[in-house]
Amino acid sequence: MTPDHRSLATLSDSRSHWLQGYPAHLSRTWTLPSGQSLRVRPIRHDDGELEEAFVRGLSLESRYQRMLSGGTKVTPEWIDSMTHIDYQRHMAFAVSTALDGVEQFVGVGRYVVDPPTNIADIALVLADAWQGQGLGRRLLATLLEHARTAGVREAVGVVLATNKAMLRLARSMGFSVTAEPGDATVMRIRRDLSNVNAQPH
Ligand SMILES: CC(C)(COP(=O)(O)OP(=O)(O)OC[C@H]1O[C@@H](n2cnc3c(N)ncnc32)[C@H](O)[C@@H]1OP(=O)(O)O)[C@@H](O)C(=O)NCCC(=O)NCCS
Repeated sequence: MTPDHRSLATLSDSRSHWLQGYPAHLSRTWTLPSGQSLRVRPIRHDDGELEEAFVRGLSLESRYQRMLSGGTKVTPEWIDSMTHIDYQRHMAFAVSTALDGVEQFVGVGRYVVDPPTNIADIALVLADAWQGQGLGRRLLATLLEHARTAGVREAVGVVLATNKAMLRLARSMGFSVTAEPGDATVMRIRRDLSNVNAQPH
């Protein structure tokens, strides 16, 4: 085998490796009141370009609210860490639309489980133009339901104290909201997942 053949073989091996574990059955179609359809699906390892375009397109405010910092550098390593997920410890769903036939993310929600405690850190963000249309609620419900089905005990998150939308959404979905000791700029949200009901989202 030439070096080129070898690297092609490695590429296709690694592609087939993650594709084998890709939970395609979790994909859904959401229909908006306008009749528009959105695709909701687990993030794929080859979603790097879509993820990067999505994050770069966020307003500074949305980025800050999601990352709790304006300084997160969108490096290839960071994009890899957001897309090369294992669907167990790290699970992420993308909500996407097709613009001129090309898929584009309009929202991403994810959780990362801490194995010793079985508690998931949860976070989501909608593209600015897609906020306030009920998608955050549906995406959060999808994450909670999937985490519960996967046996995760609790979902937690850290939210800016000024982030009214997220705090209100979290409260209305059964999260407790408490102050973070020693840091007045953020609040901690927490929800036991044992009583999350399976709903069509
Ligand atoms: C927070 C966020 C995820 C909510 O998603 P969304 O699609 O905009 O919210 P929805 O339309 O589903 O609304 C759900 C609930 O959130 C609350 N909400 C949404 N927008 C709000 C606003 N501007 N002010 C106050 N509450 C608001 C309401 O309680 C609303 O329920 P209601 O319509 O029944 O009153 C979204 O606004 C976002 O991506 N913000 C930037 C990133 C971020 O803050 N992420 C959270 C960090 S984990």
